[in-house]
Amino acid sequence: MFDVKKVRQDFPVLQRQVYGKPLVYLDNAATSQKPNSVIQALVEYYEGYNANVHRGVHALSMEATDRYEEARAKVARFIGAPEPETIIWTRNTTEGMNLIANAWAPDNIGPGDEIVVTRMEHHSNLVPWQKLVQERGAVLRFLPLAADGDLDLEDVDTIINPRTKLLSIVHMSNSIGTITPVKELAAKARAVGAAVAVDGAQSVPHMPVNVTDLDCDFLAFSGHKMLGPTGIGALYVKRDVLERMEPFLRGGEMVLEVTYESASWNDLPMRFEAGTPNIADSIALGAAVDYLEGLGMENVRQHERQMTRYALDAFKELEEVDVFGPDDADRRGGIIPFHHPEVHPHDLGTALDRQGIAIRTGHHCTMPLMGELGVTATGRASFYVYNSEDEIDLLVDGVREALRYFTHGPG
Ligand code: ALA
Repeated sequence: MFDVKKVRQDFPVLQRQVYGKPLVYLDNAATSQKPNSVIQALVEYYEGYNANVHRGVHALSMEATDRYEEARAKVARFIGAPEPETIIWTRNTTEGMNLIANAWAPDNIGPGDEIVVTRMEHHSNLVPWQKLVQERGAVLRFLPLAADGDLDLEDVDTIINPRTKLLSIVHMSNSIGTITPVKELAAKARAVGAAVAVDGAQSVPHMPVNVTDLDCDFLAFSGHKMLGPTGIGALYVKRDVLERMEPFLRGGEMVLEVTYESASWNDLPMRFEAGTPNIADSIALGAAVDYLEGLGMENVRQHERQMTRYALDAFKELEEVDVFGPDDADRRGGIIPFHHPEVHPHDLGTALDRQGIAIRTGHHCTMPLMGELGVTATGRASFYVYNSEDEIDLLVDGVREALRYFTHGPG
């Protein structure tokens, strides 16, 4: 296990104060903070070898290309992908899901075919499929939720059936923390000949994830939630699927030969990366991978499981506050959504902010799920490698104080 106090020293922003109080940053499911090594990777690129990649014969371009491709290899290794060529750089998870919906799905989903998702999907794994099924005359089906926020798998063998062409599933819910049994569900999907896409936005940063073990066709995730910069993410695509996929964006760099009439495509993965890519942020995401591997992903998961267990117990002290998601820290990530029937989450969030405590409030880009939970919004605390149990105590004390104020008034 790692030393949280030492880890905190690597994150400059954690040294700052908010309204005169030390910052307690508990909004990691929205975006994580960045360690010095990631910030330095950006500075080193811009100060030392800023150049375009794959285009120049000059030293800077070759250096940038090497570092950029090294970062791709690091990301591939991090998620157990067999080869770097199966990693496509994207902006974020949302772009990854849209790439699947635009480049793979139109050739593989037809009238009457079914796409299966869960009832806890982020909008990015729902809205693209709504458009696709409308256009293709296909059907969107849902795996329901049990009362505790786990998946209800009683009818899974009816929902995943020979008409299923794609199972597209969240690995860890960004709203209620549930970890879904992706490997088991992927096996069911494969048994009926369906492809499998995984939204790894919350799982890849927080637990060991291995695409070879999961046997998925696609895995999308974002750099900024795993200590990397904003504006960079990755989509893993299984090699044989990738080879059969049409390019998504067209233009420079993704081509081999171009005439006035036609074009042929570059090798993988460049075929899917038209235009000048996000070079600096890719390299810095490689530095974030180095940092996480230095801590060890088993240790990251273990730390967050401990934090989650502690938080679930601590929140039980708050009468009338509902905490959503599984009650067992083994079945959820470090995401604690909470709700009081009389106090709006935005009021709670604002009161906590005055104590220097940053949480997210709202529907967390899962509006249909909020309906299932019977609320319009929740407060949400989410943890990462630099958070401590002391911070959970501050959070729970802050919520208690705010609730007293809002339900009984000042004094
Ligand atoms: N999807 C991110 C979140 O859950 C932004 O907050």
